Amino acid sequence: MLRHSLTLLLLLPMVACASTAIPPENATGAEIYGIADCAGCHGDDFDGTMFGPGLKDVDLHWNPSALAGFFAAPESIIESDARLTELDKEYWFDMPDYDHIPPRQREILAIWLLEQAKEK
Ligand code: HEC
Repeated sequence: MLRHSLTLLLLLPMVACASTAIPPENATGAEIYGIADCAGCHGDDFDGTMFGPGLKDVDLHWNPSALAGFFAAPESIIESDARLTELDKEYWFDMPDYDHIPPRQREILAIWLLEQAKEK
């Protein structure tokens, strides 16, 4: 238990400061996923981690424009959605907001993520 807590303490600062880097203009969805450090919480293969849920079913719940909007302001959407409110209770941290990423790039990320989920 102590060991578990120590691991958490070491990981906290890493996760708590999710990346605020702005991706280069021509970045692909995969590159944005990497630059924004989505994988730190959701995993490289979308299996999820202790910091965030798996994303393999996102295609069942989202369309590209709704998802692009969610990236900019997840909190208000989570509060108004029963499924996401339940999901939120399972994690220590909230999904960070990515409103520093321009709308077109959030859309590219959303389209790419939904394509990945469809293939899983
Ligand atoms: C600090 C950890 C963390 C980071 C970084 C993070 N997320 Fe999340 N994400 C979460 C958590 C936790 C939830 C569940 C809702 C909540 O508790 O806020 C979530 C929810 C989601 C959902 C909704 C899942 C569903 O079932 O509908 C999507 C999609 C998503 N994240 C994608 C991303 C993408 C893409 C990025 C990078 C731009 C990202 N997340 C970065 C923690 C994170």
